[in-house]
Amino acid sequence: MNRKTLLLSAITAVMLIAGNMFMTGCTKEGPAGKDGINGADGANGADGADGTASCITCHSPEGIEMAAVQYELSKHSYGEAAFEEAGSTTCGPCHLSEAFKYVCANNTPSTFTLNTTTNKYVNDYFVAPTAAYGEINCGTCHSSLHTTYGEGDLALTTVAPVAMTMWAGAKTINAPADGGRSNLCIKCHQPRPFTASAADGNVLDYVGIASNPTAVFYDAAGTGNKLKPGYRTHTHYGTAGAVFAGMGGVEFAGITYENSIHTTLASCQDCHMGTMQGKAGGHTFFAKGNFNGCNSDGCHTEANASSEGLWINPRADIKAKLDELAAALNVNGVDILNRNPDGESNLWAANTTNKYDGYLNIYDPINNPDGPTNNPGVFQNPSPSNSWSQEQKDYNLTLPKITLTNAQMGSIINFQLCLRDYSLGIHNYKYTKALLSNSISVLSTKGGV
Ligand code: HEC
Ligand code: HEC
Ligand code: HEC
Ligand code: HEC
Ligand code: HEC
Repeated sequence: MNRKTLLLSAITAVMLIAGNMFMTGCTKEGPAGKDGINGADGANGADGADGTASCITCHSPEGIEMAAVQYELSKHSYGEAAFEEAGSTTCGPCHLSEAFKYVCANNTPSTFTLNTTTNKYVNDYFVAPTAAYGEINCGTCHSSLHTTYGEGDLALTTVAPVAMTMWAGAKTINAPADGGRSNLCIKCHQPRPFTASAADGNVLDYVGIASNPTAVFYDAAGTGNKLKPGYRTHTHYGTAGAVFAGMGGVEFAGITYENSIHTTLASCQDCHMGTMQGKAGGHTFFAKGNFNGCNSDGCHTEANASSEGLWINPRADIKAKLDELAAALNVNGVDILNRNPDGESNLWAANTTNKYDGYLNIYDPINNPDGPTNNPGVFQNPSPSNSWSQEQKDYNLTLPKITLTNAQMGSIINFQLCLRDYSLGIHNYKYTKALLSNSISVLSTKGGV
């Protein structure tokens, strides 16, 4: 049954029930009772609300029907992650509808707590297994739908400040524009924590990394390593919210960290939900190729894809900085960063010349078997798996070992954050530029190899 038939049958059902109430009185009249005399008529009741009028405020062609058609083009709808992550209590808060509503309703903290039995920190940002399902749908963001049947039911599920999971709650984003409505998006579009998985499991200390760039972060022979780098040592994809807010990087000294005006004046919705154009705007949530949002509310007047000052130059500048940083993260001719020219699996392929994807160029028999064909060389994997064949284990041992200084690890994190932000500086040009420039200079002066 499609939505329209459902709606019609719901309305028909209401009418049928109402009809039945009239009919009972006349068809089944029995003999008059003992007292047989009618009582006095009661006063007329107040008029009831019009049965379907409240429905129509939303169920109209330019209301939810339009939003629903646009939504088919949204990756929230067609993306497959919700299906793949179903059942996951830790991925759920950002990927599963019921789980997102759960963390909002329960105000689930993003703290980490030490488990004194294992001596490892545990991430408290997870949901009950009973709530770990559901594709992102209308009710994920509009969680009061059909509670009062009034227009207020479209209210957003949350606009509350977001205690960031990557900082174990120590930093909070509160996007100021438009009543904080960006906070809805940021609650999901924030990086996942980078944890000291080989040590106490707590979140990495970015301030410590930034202030001591020459220290060794990882050394195959060393003790006290916080994590063992692998192909998948990465900042999780949803970095836009953190970059937009000017938080989430390893802030090496150098150019002062400031935010572009977007951080205070614009909301995610301004640029991502503008008037539809092509496959972007409205409830597609895409900004790509749509400048209607930029040119509304008196912000810009003639932003478009050929504006040099607003689009071409800043994006080219950030792309060049990403390229430069990637080149600085090369040791004796071997890239630390992984290349992946496939635009399907690498969403960010177009954002650097060598088509990096934010993963590391460390040997992995499945994901990075011999270093990608276009990648000169590959690093040894410090954690060979028991499931590898003897041949794979032997090959791994022939490869160069990786060593990382704090400068290199912090630069890797900053590269991943800025690449996966996707916007090449449009979200927050000043912050992005400072992170990349300061990483490049710290690698050239200290801690680079
Ligand atoms: C605040 C806005 C709003 C109001 C008011 C509203 N609806 Fe809905 N309704 C929605 C949304 C949003 C959906 C989901 C549409 C979709 O999935 O494409 C929906 C879906 C439905 C569906 C399809 C089944 C479902 O749950 O997906 C029916 C039936 C329905 N509404 C009936 C009604 C009736 C009857 C009324 C009035 C008594 C009403 N609605 C009032 C927003 C509203
Ligand atoms: C419940 C968590 C959640 C909320 C809230 C949310 N998103 Fe998303 N968003 C996601 C996830 C998860 C994906 C990736 C889905 C997939 O690939 O299956 C995504 C994908 C996207 C994409 C496509 C990214 C790409 O890979 O091309 C855009 C754009 C986007 N969201 C913008 C927004 C905006 C703007 C808001 C706020 C109005 C928002 N999102 C609110 C979780 C969320
Ligand atoms: C803090 C929120 C958050 C958590 C927790 C989270 N994700 Fe995501 N994830 C996102 C967002 C947001 C995106 C979409 C980012 C974009 O495309 O710009 C995403 C994207 C993805 C994608 C890529 C989908 C695509 O379109 O290519 C995969 C796969 C994924 N996540 C898997 C996971 C898994 C597995 C976990 C748990 C181990 C997890 N995520 C936990 C926020 C999160
Ligand atoms: C990722 C979050 C998200 C999802 C999913 C979502 N919406 Fe919305 N919706 C918003 C935001 C944000 C607004 C803007 C309202 C605001 O800022 O207060 C909005 C506004 C609306 C409005 C008001 C008119 C307009 O377009 O601005 C309607 C109607 C609506 N949504 C219907 C729907 C329907 C129907 C679905 C499912 C097909 C849906 N929404 C899914 C976030 C979402
Ligand atoms: C000033 C306008 C602007 C604001 C504000 C903004 N974005 Fe973007 N966003 C863009 C542009 C432009 C792109 C890149 C589109 C392209 O490459 O063509 C983008 C890209 C993205 C992408 C990658 C997917 C895609 O293709 O659209 C995600 C996800 C995203 N933004 C999320 C957010 C979130 C979440 C917020 C709020 C925290 C936000 N954006 C605020 C303009 C904006």
